Amino acid sequence: MKFPIRLSARRKAVALSGATTLVVAGLITLPATMAHAAPGCDITYTTNDWSEGAGTGGFTGTVVVKNTGDALTNWTLKFAFPGGQTFTQGWSATWSASGANVTATALDWNKNLATGASTSLGFNGRWTGSNPKPTAFTLNGVTCTTGGVTPSPSTSASPSASPSASASPSASPSSSPSASPSSSPSASPSASSSPIPGVKVDNPYVGATGYVNPNWRSKAIAEPGGSRVANTSTGVWLDRIAAIAGSSTTMGLRAHLDEALVQDAANGSAALTIQFVIYNLPGRDCSALASNGELGVDELPRYKSEYIDPIAAIMADSKYRNLRIVAVIEIDSLPNLVTNLNVAKCATMNSNGGYVKGVGYALNKLGAISNVYNYIDSGHHGWLGWDTNFGPTAVKLKEAATAEGSTVNNVHGFITNTANYSALVEPYINISGTIGGQPVRQAKWIDWNYYADELSFAQAFRNRLVQEGFNSNIGMLIDTSRNGWGNCVQTPCQSIQTTRPTAASTSTVLDTYINQSRIDRRIHLGNWCNQAGAGMGERPTAAPQSGIDAYVWIKPPGESDGSSSLIPNDEGKGFDRMCDPTYTGNERNGNSLSGALPNAPISGQWFSAQFQQLMANAYPPLS
Ligand code: GLC
Repeated sequence: MKFPIRLSARRKAVALSGATTLVVAGLITLPATMAHAAPGCDITYTTNDWSEGAGTGGFTGTVVVKNTGDALTNWTLKFAFPGGQTFTQGWSATWSASGANVTATALDWNKNLATGASTSLGFNGRWTGSNPKPTAFTLNGVTCTTGGVTPSPSTSASPSASPSASASPSASPSSSPSASPSSSPSASPSASSSPIPGVKVDNPYVGATGYVNPNWRSKAIAEPGGSRVANTSTGVWLDRIAAIAGSSTTMGLRAHLDEALVQDAANGSAALTIQFVIYNLPGRDCSALASNGELGVDELPRYKSEYIDPIAAIMADSKYRNLRIVAVIEIDSLPNLVTNLNVAKCATMNSNGGYVKGVGYALNKLGAISNVYNYIDSGHHGWLGWDTNFGPTAVKLKEAATAEGSTVNNVHGFITNTANYSALVEPYINISGTIGGQPVRQAKWIDWNYYADELSFAQAFRNRLVQEGFNSNIGMLIDTSRNGWGNCVQTPCQSIQTTRPTAASTSTVLDTYINQSRIDRRIHLGNWCNQAGAGMGERPTAAPQSGIDAYVWIKPPGESDGSSSLIPNDEGKGFDRMCDPTYTGNERNGNSLSGALPNAPISGQWFSAQFQQLMANAYPPLS
């Protein structure tokens, strides 16, 4: 099933078309007073600096551009370095630099900026002596405020510089007629980061802090060394009907939202993003056993009336309207309908429509709430990276997004790698290259997949989803809670090697090259349960890469994926042998060992040994 039928033209993740309107935007340098009713922008500019000795170093800059004026259908940002810094490379825009003058033009997915919406851009640069911030920024020729403060005119960003820039006019239209700035022409809301009521921001993670789940926090902080990560934002899983009300030991939905209000009030002017996982479909986890749920295959009516309806009613309470509520929709469900129809329960859920209708219903109900942002689960590269699965999954996701009265407008984006272990980036694997004359894709580990890592997969899948009819400004999330793969300092480790590669292998034997070069050190890419040797990955980050809304920690580190032997329980959870370290596998993991840690409790329960391992093997390492 995983073997591609034929090579298909690959679509590149990097959008270049944003450059096409640079010239147009550059020419519309109307004085601020006579442009549209109210052009305006506000910039938040921050840097992370490092020193390389002798008064020089590098830095990563983040520029959050907030449109405080009329809606924009395209934009060009300009600023100038005041202290001799140089620009090296950027993302989330088409960047160019000429001496001190830097220009960033919108990409397709962030060119539309509604009134009050923000987008976050990033770049790397070098500094010498010090790294003073630019003081003057222009957006489409209009001077921006910085943090709400109007700069003094003498420090202008010399917008006349580098007129040649990187513009390459081409055929695509310069603005999308559908996005005409009809909304609230008076606009210019205050500099606060809360969205205008009824209007969703483009990326709910930008300008926001993440909700810290007190239940998870207290377990994490009770572990030796756990205070290093305990304040990290993690997903709140509504994994059964009773989770909505909560219990004497576990907070329910309202308790979390009330606590989120408290955290929002304490975080200054930032917004607050709280992430819930909607995870209770009838016939849940159809191809595996470890996360089977409480609802039988025919219980779609209960899913709607006892699960989604009450959740929607609570989330719609107006006292929560300033929170940004992310809803991660139904892990693993729709991909299972593409790849696992040979499993009887998945075939049932396909033919009775339980998954497609359930997801459509959830999207429609939750998407109607002005501050709820739906992200649908879309597997990971080690599942959907083959042509046979890639396109058909996009088609299935569209089918669900338009079921039960829903439309694609209820979908803010998609998430990959939820609760999985796939490496974010494989820097030493060039998927289209060759080693010793053999195509990299032929390696046993790659198994003809078109992707070697999550980032390239997520970006490419985003493009495919837009092609399928999802909105062009959708964003992706990647769960990085357990895909760090640092040096394995805590046994058991996986068999391949215990140190994280720091360079490409020099071997000319393909399989040796890949096995010595890969960051992901699972025994097989199909292994998914409590992986030995894994570490915590990138900490949650907003807008880290083009097309990616955030790296997030949806699977709370320390919560088991499934028990390593049969443990009777009243949650519907089964025993899946992929969680048994002695299991020698099946065709879906190349008949390999499962790579699972021993002595694991049932899925969702605290697994202290795993939490300790995830901290010890974290990458980036915990400080
Ligand atoms: C698994 C469990 C679920 C739990 C979740 C997060 O999917 O089945 O009960 O909430 O993991 O740990």
